[in-house]
Amino acid sequence: MGLFGNLFSSKKVKDSVLAWDMHNHILFGIDDGSKTLESSLDMARQFTDLGYARVVATPHIMGDYYPNTRAIISEKADILNSALKENHIHLKVDFAAEYYMDEVFLDKVNANEELLTFHGKHLLMETSFMNKPMFFNKLVFDLKTKGYIPVFAHPERYVYHHQAYGEIEQLMHLGVKLQINLLSLLGYYSPQVKKLAHWMVKNGYYHFLGTDAHSTEHLKLTHEVFRSKIFESIDFSKVENAAVK
Ligand SMILES: [Fe+2]
Repeated sequence: MGLFGNLFSSKKVKDSVLAWDMHNHILFGIDDGSKTLESSLDMARQFTDLGYARVVATPHIMGDYYPNTRAIISEKADILNSALKENHIHLKVDFAAEYYMDEVFLDKVNANEELLTFHGKHLLMETSFMNKPMFFNKLVFDLKTKGYIPVFAHPERYVYHHQAYGEIEQLMHLGVKLQINLLSLLGYYSPQVKKLAHWMVKNGYYHFLGTDAHSTEHLKLTHEVFRSKIFESIDFSKVENAAVK
């Protein structure tokens, strides 16, 4: 790439910033993310270093394992937001959840329970890393019928996608929005995850980019993603949590 090419690509990155994060585990003591208020504050400082002014916390809701509720999550968000103010850290923490697609979730949907969403009616969901549930398509259909917009967390991380890239295209046809983890682009999880994440970027199969930060360490590594070639190649006009200036 010549001089003008380099100038052009760095301008593109500089002018395109992720405006807010929509997938992280910054709330402390309720899932496998932050353990203490102090570590949540450390994560918040890292988020501001990365240029974020707002994040949507998405604690896991997973059967008996992480039986989080709106009340539990909102109380933690209130505590964290107060501590952020006291410590003069300029980050606003809103909240939703990351729903694990199991029978418990199915029951919530069937019972018309009001689910935790972000950005209007967007609903973040995940599956087991090894197996896609049989009821996946039916559940997506039911969620959409009820007015939700399903967002699939890190499709690139599921082992069942690694030999079946066509499944990603099927998800697009189903009307599921796709959220890539920033650290997947770096190869943080595995070479297979990186390969699929890069393929998704190259084909334009993405709607959101999330940190999925469980710790300060994850956010420190995210700086490296922002400097990477693959990040430069992202079309930010497709990214719903980006602000293209
Ligand atoms: Fe997550």
